Amino acid sequence: MTGNEIRAKFLEYFELHDHRIVHSSPLLPADDPTLLFTNAGMNQFKDVFLGNEKRDYKRAASSQKCIRAGGKHNDLDEVGKTARHHTFFEMLGNFSFGDYFKKEAITYAWDFLVNELKLDEARLWFSVFEGDAEVGPDDEARELWIAAGAKPERVLGFGRKDNFWQMGDTGPCGPCSEIHYYMGEDPHDPEKNHAKWVNGEGDTTMEIWNLVFMQYNRTQNDDGTFTLTPLPAPSVDTGMGLERITAVMQNVKSNYDTDLIRPLVEFAASLGR
Ligand code: SER
Repeated sequence: MTGNEIRAKFLEYFELHDHRIVHSSPLLPADDPTLLFTNAGMNQFKDVFLGNEKRDYKRAASSQKCIRAGGKHNDLDEVGKTARHHTFFEMLGNFSFGDYFKKEAITYAWDFLVNELKLDEARLWFSVFEGDAEVGPDDEARELWIAAGAKPERVLGFGRKDNFWQMGDTGPCGPCSEIHYYMGEDPHDPEKNHAKWVNGEGDTTMEIWNLVFMQYNRTQNDDGTFTLTPLPAPSVDTGMGLERITAVMQNVKSNYDTDLIRPLVEFAASLGR
C-alpha cells in the first residue's frame, strides 16, 4: 500500500464513522502566539476543545502537516539519529469534541490497525498513564484495550513524560494512550519482542499512534504556577505518524525508505551527481 493510499484509507475509515474530513491547517498557526509552528493535528481545534468555538460537527479527521522544531514538542535533537524522526511530518488524526470518549477512541484504533490494515497483533504494545500526584492512573484505558483484544501483559503503564499530553505549557491536555509497534525479528520470541523496548532505546519498537483523552485546560497564574481545570466536555485527540505507519505497512525499517520520502532523497542525491 502506498503512503497516499494509507492516508486515504484512514480518512475514508473515519468518514464512514461520521467524522467530518477537515483539511490540514497551515504550518504557521493562524492565531496562536503560544506556538511557533503547527505541531499536532489538534492545533486547529484548540478553541473547540476549550469550548470557545463551536463547529457544525462533533467528530473530525485530518491529515495535518506538522513541524516539530522548537517549543514543547521539539524533535530536532532526534533527527538524524533515529529512523523515525524528521522535522516535518504528516499526522493522521481523529477527533471528538465532547462526543465520544475513551471507549470509541480505543475501539476505532484497534479496529483500524488490526482489521483494516491487518497489522500483526503480536507486534502491538499499548501504554496508558500510570498516574501521579495530580491525575490518577488511567485504569479505564487499560481495561478498554483488553476488552478490544489486547493481551493484559501488552498494556504497560508509564508516567507523565510519555503518557500525559499537552500542546504547550498551557492549553488543552490529558492522559494519553499510545500504540507501539515491534519492528524487530520474530515477534513471537518473548526474548526479542520485549516490554523493555517500549519507550526504550533505539528503533526496535516505534510509537505509531497516540490517543489523547482531552480532559483539562492548563492555565498559568500570575505567580507563574499552573492550574488544571476540567474541559467543558471530555474530548478525544489522536495522532498517528503517516510516515511511521507507512514504514510499518511497507515493511521497511526507516521512515526515510518509505515511498513518501525515498523519492525526495533520491532526487536530492541526483542533483549532486
Ligand atoms: N496531540 C497528540 C500528539 O501530538 C495526539 O495527536 O501526540
